[in-house]
Amino acid sequence: MPSEAPLTLVTMLGSLRRGSYNAAIARSLPELAPPSVTIAALGSVGDFPLYNADLQAEGFPAAVRRVGEEIGAADGLIFVTPEYNYSVPGVLKNAIDWLSRLPEKPFKHKPVLIQSASPGLLGGARAQYHLRQMLVYLDTYAMNVPEVMVNQVASKVDETSGRLTDQASRDFIAGQLKAFVAFIRDMQAFARDRPSRA
Ligand code: FNR
Repeated sequence: MPSEAPLTLVTMLGSLRRGSYNAAIARSLPELAPPSVTIAALGSVGDFPLYNADLQAEGFPAAVRRVGEEIGAADGLIFVTPEYNYSVPGVLKNAIDWLSRLPEKPFKHKPVLIQSASPGLLGGARAQYHLRQMLVYLDTYAMNVPEVMVNQVASKVDETSGRLTDQASRDFIAGQLKAFVAFIRDMQAFARDRPSRA
């Protein structure tokens, strides 16, 4: 049955911090995913050099090519990111800029999910809407709702295990992942029906 075909999702993390709360959430996703869904971390955006068209002209860096291929091969992409100054961290923007220049266009028509976390009250909401604006130009299929913005995250993560432990957040994220799987299957059926959109 096509509806039971396994799916592979990949996560792109917007923080380079060792003790990152967002990393704790990304790390917890595999155990919150529906059956037959694999979730794997992409290479770190910290391995990307600062975007420079002169560097690109010499050839895409290996780290950029590798992540581009991993996104291209995945059924869906999940951004998990902090908010910096009401927007996305520069390291994430830099990675998106590099990947957007790949001739294979790894973001095009890719189902995308967004999650953010912050010690503050809004959970990174403002960064999400800046990211969504970029996703328009990249022509992704970004799922709109439910939105996951984990606020006051410091009290919801166990620093020792580096995992999201707050049960309400875990349940909500599990629900979002379930919705994302249904969304991906809809998008895949849409592409099958209209091959020119694939
Ligand atoms: C922040 N932080 C922050 N938080 C927020 O909710 N809205 C914001 O606009 C900002 N801006 C901001 C700018 C910069 C430069 C830093 C370093 C931090 C706080 C941020 O949410 C906090 O450091 C998180 O812990 C970062 O996420 P990770 O690294 O724990 O995943």
